[in-house]
Amino acid sequence: MPSPPIPSAQRPDSPALIDQYGRVATDLRVSVTDHCNLRCTYCMPADGLEWLPRDELLSTAELQRLLHIAVTQLGIAEIRFTGGEPLLRRDLPELVSFAAGLHPRPDLSVTTNGLGLKHKAKVLADAGLDRINVSLDSVDRVAYAAITRRDRLHDVLDGLAAAVAAGLAPVKVNAVLQRGVNDDQAADLLGFCLANGYELRFIEQMPLDADHRWNRASMITAEEILDRLRERFALTPDARPRGAAPAQRWLVDGGPASVGVIASVTKPFCGDCDRVRLTADGQLRNCLFATGETDLRRLLRTGGDDVAIAHQWRDAIWVKKAGHGIGAAGFQQPARPMSAIGG
Ligand code: 5AD
Ligand code: SF4
Repeated sequence: MPSPPIPSAQRPDSPALIDQYGRVATDLRVSVTDHCNLRCTYCMPADGLEWLPRDELLSTAELQRLLHIAVTQLGIAEIRFTGGEPLLRRDLPELVSFAAGLHPRPDLSVTTNGLGLKHKAKVLADAGLDRINVSLDSVDRVAYAAITRRDRLHDVLDGLAAAVAAGLAPVKVNAVLQRGVNDDQAADLLGFCLANGYELRFIEQMPLDADHRWNRASMITAEEILDRLRERFALTPDARPRGAAPAQRWLVDGGPASVGVIASVTKPFCGDCDRVRLTADGQLRNCLFATGETDLRRLLRTGGDDVAIAHQWRDAIWVKKAGHGIGAAGFQQPARPMSAIGG
């Protein structure tokens, strides 16, 4: 168990987003909407979720204000826009271009399911987007439709190609494997990504599903993923330093191509975590698995100035827990599913 939080009074006087374990948050994940046009079985129920009421979502101006504070006062150096599905938010190019104009200019990326990316990749790249992560769990049309409950594989493939054409680099693919669903497809996914120049990363499934059906025993572990890949490819550890990047990288058939495996559950990287999350309704979360949130929207809408907002933000990070504790006694899955937190 993590030690009890040190009272805020003992927090060093620093503008950065530091926590009581000495970690510094420099990577902001912004969920811009909780809506999604897919219904991935490990994320959403078939009927979708009750969406956040419109007036609770942060407006363009409110989001811009928080981004400005994060970059200019709190040391945020990297901004990732996520969802739900961030491309569903019409002002996404506007948000990207605003963020690109901040000083120091943050590194800008988007995590998307790829639907509609075909039409938006160029606009986003022109707005200043640097990189993109596309979620794709199978390149088999039938399996893809079973996982996402939508027959849209062709859209994602078009979106990936458009991202490359727009100059977004690298184009990364995120995949989650589920036992009996697509766990036999790891090598196919890697073959597809190698052939097209996409950087593939597998992510162990975490307990963030809306139905609360996740179960540790049926999860496909990083070790299993590697075993399956080794049936077709030679993997050697990539010697490049990993830093706060959660993926353990492997060179494929001697390199230079590589594949990443994110062992979020079996080998947590919480000790190196540099992330903070903002939900579409303006709640700050210091961890994916936080059970509490800090209400920045309220402060925004009740006339809080930038100094007050920055102060509350620092306080929220200071009390970040040492780790997610998945599998430990007393672990509680967060009430919000992944789609309402942001990946
Ligand atoms: N565990 C791991 N990854 C998840 N994602 C969604 N839900 C989970 C989960 N429970 C992934 C999506 C997407 C990214 C935002 O997070 O596949 O790639
Ligand atoms: Fe949508 Fe992503 Fe959840 Fe799939 S995992 S339903 S694409 S938010």
